[in-house]
Amino acid sequence: MIGLRFMRLGVITLAIGLFFGVIGGFQFLFPDFLRELLFTKTRAIHVSMVVSWIFLIAIGGIYYYLPSQLDKKLYSNKLAGWHYWLFLITGILVLVSYLSGKFGGREYFAFPPILSIPIFLSWIFFGYNFFRTMSQETESWPVYYWQWATGIIFFFLTYTEAHLYLIPYFRENMVREIIVQWKSYGALTGSWNMLVYGTGLFIATRISGNDNVAKTKMAFALYFLGLFNLIFGWAHHTYLVPSETWIRTFAYFVSMTELYIFGKIIWDWRGSLQQWQINKHDTAYRFLFAADIWVFLNLGLALIISVPYFNLYTHGTHTIVAHAMGSTIGINTMILLSSLFYLINEAKVSQLDTRETKKVINGFWITNVSLAVFLIALICAGLGKGIFYTDMPFQAMMFNIRPFLVTFTLAGIALMLGLWVVLWQAFNKLGILNGSIDVSKQDEVRVNKQPT
Ligand code: HEM
Repeated sequence: MIGLRFMRLGVITLAIGLFFGVIGGFQFLFPDFLRELLFTKTRAIHVSMVVSWIFLIAIGGIYYYLPSQLDKKLYSNKLAGWHYWLFLITGILVLVSYLSGKFGGREYFAFPPILSIPIFLSWIFFGYNFFRTMSQETESWPVYYWQWATGIIFFFLTYTEAHLYLIPYFRENMVREIIVQWKSYGALTGSWNMLVYGTGLFIATRISGNDNVAKTKMAFALYFLGLFNLIFGWAHHTYLVPSETWIRTFAYFVSMTELYIFGKIIWDWRGSLQQWQINKHDTAYRFLFAADIWVFLNLGLALIISVPYFNLYTHGTHTIVAHAMGSTIGINTMILLSSLFYLINEAKVSQLDTRETKKVINGFWITNVSLAVFLIALICAGLGKGIFYTDMPFQAMMFNIRPFLVTFTLAGIALMLGLWVVLWQAFNKLGILNGSIDVSKQDEVRVNKQPT
């Protein structure tokens, strides 16, 4: 089934992406390590692969859940298949271009812009398929449909905007180029957050067995704040360039509120569950719970680094990297793992037995504990670089923050191993589940009754 193929590809992508993250960690410590694979290449490969993981699992989930759990016949399996192949082939070309030293794009998409054409095309396939499929819905949409729809549309818009640098008017003025770049990438993150938070709320409705959590005023408040944040929330990415103060302050307030509301919805939802519901989806529940804790921890960090004084000194340091990885690992990855283990445990053929569950739980703990150490080490390194050792020569500053970078790299290895344990189980089970589905009847797959 196409959704499961996306997910399996996502699992492989993350497993490899983690490895490149660890190589990058070693390159922090030993700049000569794998000299031929420069840090710029390692970083670009790592970031592109982990971001692809987020998209692949979110997209795969939408393709999987619509027909199997939400009673929607996918408008076109063929189109979804093309989407998959386009993603895969473009992904390989992106890797080849990085490895051969051909860059050209910006930020998280540093590859030559020509490769953006198939990405746009694949997104058109996805959007068209999604909206045609959703046209079957006659009732009012629960919030996760809105989040998915908005994520799809806004990815398209913000990704287009991220290419404005190709027009000389934007490229030739540095301030304009930076504002547009940071603005579009801030909003782009907002668009994948829509897909991921939508998935998180969807999983919450499934575990509790009813759609209430996705129909409350609070859930829609989250949606509208997220939408607002997506359109205006980028402003806290642009402290260093001149822009209106009120926009930044307002945007900052909105992004913090969004995180807080998401955290609160999941928190309240947890309180409403009964023990049997938790036991039934033990692993999925754990990952969603972990995501919730990371929401609050990231909120704390985001509050601090968005204070203009701290932002000025920490911008471009490891503290900001901690913010980016804290949210992509702690929040996005945990929600997506929750989605994977929800669907794995929901189908009888792929349910985890006691031994496998234990392995996943061990992986869960290794991942979360090492993530905490990983982020604290990064924050300390960033504070050293941006605040405490600023008056020292570069070499002396690097010497002083070295213990933190060593801790970061060691914790990174543990984090990779913990996630590998979890991903290995998921990969096998997705294969079993995929193999059990009769391809000729894939539109009819229904693993679970739609909740009321
Ligand atoms: C699910 C796992 C992971 C995700 C989602 C993730 C995500 C990211 C993201 C989004 C960035 C870009 C940060 C920025 O905006 O500058 C980044 C950079 C980086 N990550 Fe990861 N990461 C993961 C795991 C790891 C691991 C296990 C390591 C191992 C040490 C690692 C090492 C690095 C390094 C060295 C950088 C470059 C930092 C810099 O440019 O200074 N990552 N990662």
